[in-house]
Amino acid sequence: MLELCNATVRFASPGGPQVLAVDGVSLTIAEGAFVVVIGTNGSGKSTLLGSVAGTVPLSAGAIHLAGHDITAWSQPARARLIGRVFQDPRAGTAGSLTVLENIAVAACRGRPAGLRWATSRALRVEAAARLGRIVPGLEARLDQPIGSLSGGQRQIVTLVMATWHRPELLLLDEHTAALDPAAADRVVQATAALIRERRLTALMVTHSLAQAASLGDRLILIHRGRVELDVSGAAKRRLTPDDLAARFDRLRRADQLDDAAARTLAEAYV
Ligand SMILES: Nc1ncnc2c1ncn2[C@@H]1O[C@H](COP(=O)(O)OP(=O)(O)OP(=O)(O)O)[C@@H](O)[C@H]1O
Ligand SMILES: [Mg+2]
Repeated sequence: MLELCNATVRFASPGGPQVLAVDGVSLTIAEGAFVVVIGTNGSGKSTLLGSVAGTVPLSAGAIHLAGHDITAWSQPARARLIGRVFQDPRAGTAGSLTVLENIAVAACRGRPAGLRWATSRALRVEAAARLGRIVPGLEARLDQPIGSLSGGQRQIVTLVMATWHRPELLLLDEHTAALDPAAADRVVQATAALIRERRLTALMVTHSLAQAASLGDRLILIHRGRVELDVSGAAKRRLTPDDLAARFDRLRRADQLDDAAARTLAEAYV
């Protein structure tokens, strides 16, 4: 289970006002939940995920994961519990290593004694089985440099690495955004199947309203660093991409009204 209690992130911007990127978010995410996170650009989605992963420090609040208070844990300490896949297919893997060598690094993470296993035949067999189950044929590429794979194939390898040891939490930040539509669809379907089969707890950020409507069992809409909408169960299943697009339109209109009101106020005080 993941618990955020009043999670707050403020960024100082030299010469300008502070940015309140995450504004007192409190959330409880049950074990095994697949949560899709949406929101406009700059609404705080990546900052929220970064604060959970430990790359962005909280300005206030606390985070608990799997019974641990991880608020003060370093990012490497949290990486033992958290798997991540990023937007850039090059971000999660080492381009100069082969597919199997990359997987070996993930298999050994936090387990120095596992280095022998990393070079063993058992790892090769297991890696081939896991890759082939997701994309038949990918297991034949184990000894090729990971840089020779397509972006979509590389994201599948990253996904296998991030979940090699079942993580307490899987964080996916727009991990299909850099892919062409067909590859994005394959990777997102593989992601959903993996989360379902291994009963992973996952937070997936996407800009695709079709993905947001069709995937996951809970949907959270972030706006200006706050949770604007949080639906699960039957209400989540009923949501359509059009419903979500209408929500976004309303938020954008409200923002424009806010901006216009702020300008009017500012002008009144000149
Ligand atoms: N390191 C930083 N320093 C200062 N401000 C930052 C930093 N990182 C993010 N911000 C600001 O915090 C706010 C939230 O940014 P964030 O990247 O979390 O948004 P996002 O919802 O992920 O957007 P996108 O959909 O474009 O990825 C934005 O105003 C952004 O400019
Ligand atoms: Mg982002």
